[in-house]
Amino acid sequence: MADKPVVLVTRRLPEAVEDRLRRDFEPLLNPDDRRYDTDELIARCADAEAVLTCATEAWPAAQIERLPAGVRAIATFSVGADHIDLAAARARGITVTNTPDVLTEATADIAMLCLLGAARRAFEGEALIRVGKWSGWTPTQLLGLDLTGAVLGIVGMGRIGQAVARRARSFGLQIRYHSRHRLAPQLEHGAIFHDRLNALLPHCRFLSLHCPGSAETRHMIDAQALALLPRGAVLVNTARGTLLDDEAVLASLQNGRPFAAGLDVYADEPDLHPGYRTQRNCFLLPHLGSATIETRNAMGFRCLDNLAALFAGHPAPDAL
Ligand code: DGY
Repeated sequence: MADKPVVLVTRRLPEAVEDRLRRDFEPLLNPDDRRYDTDELIARCADAEAVLTCATEAWPAAQIERLPAGVRAIATFSVGADHIDLAAARARGITVTNTPDVLTEATADIAMLCLLGAARRAFEGEALIRVGKWSGWTPTQLLGLDLTGAVLGIVGMGRIGQAVARRARSFGLQIRYHSRHRLAPQLEHGAIFHDRLNALLPHCRFLSLHCPGSAETRHMIDAQALALLPRGAVLVNTARGTLLDDEAVLASLQNGRPFAAGLDVYADEPDLHPGYRTQRNCFLLPHLGSATIETRNAMGFRCLDNLAALFAGHPAPDAL
């Protein structure tokens, strides 16, 4: 019997996080960062008391029910927990924790990068240079959109939505938002609240999504929602790919109805809808929202703080 709790770690983590794992736990690491299939995940959990997972592994009820009885916790290296069936975990007495707060600023930065990349046609510009087709400055080349004075609609005004609003204000954007709950007036900083998504959409030159992936938010941006956006709007998604009806988004991008989209997340990652790859007016990133050295370390430490609390007999601070 090991003295330290055995933790199955499903993906390779930053070095500083793995160092602390070795110090405080008995980790079963994945140095090759190979993606385990569902059977292998369960087999590797044989001696584990906790699993440190990522959003790349799905934990539906059927998978959670197969976990050995010794597993007491699932710590996800993510703020989103849509890949874990929380009710099934609760029914098994398994504590699930996530990593709130620490990735707010990095993710808000990526949302601004997607917004600017789409508005200023960064992909098309870079492609011109990379393929050696740039013949020099012209007055009409790759004209984009100004941010100053335009309206940014934010859907989901939680921590990340508010961090995006803070950044956007310094670019001169006016903020409107739709969220499950209206913010307290002192947190709105002049942002205009809409209690329905459909009421927000017609105002938005820019629209940025910051709500969790769930059955309720699935395909919230569909053909009907896209038709309510003004012609020439820019759609930004750094939350979850399932929020978009990809077929509808691609059809409307082809018609130039949204001017462009800036996306960091996709349904069925990494097998995104192939239509995006060839769509000129899309600025695409490979789920980099939290991908900074500082943030990924902080996410890892947050997972370990939660597991340490739990194994010391205390409540996990970020239990869901
Ligand atoms: C998160 O934390 O939810 C990020 O999107 C990584 O999955």
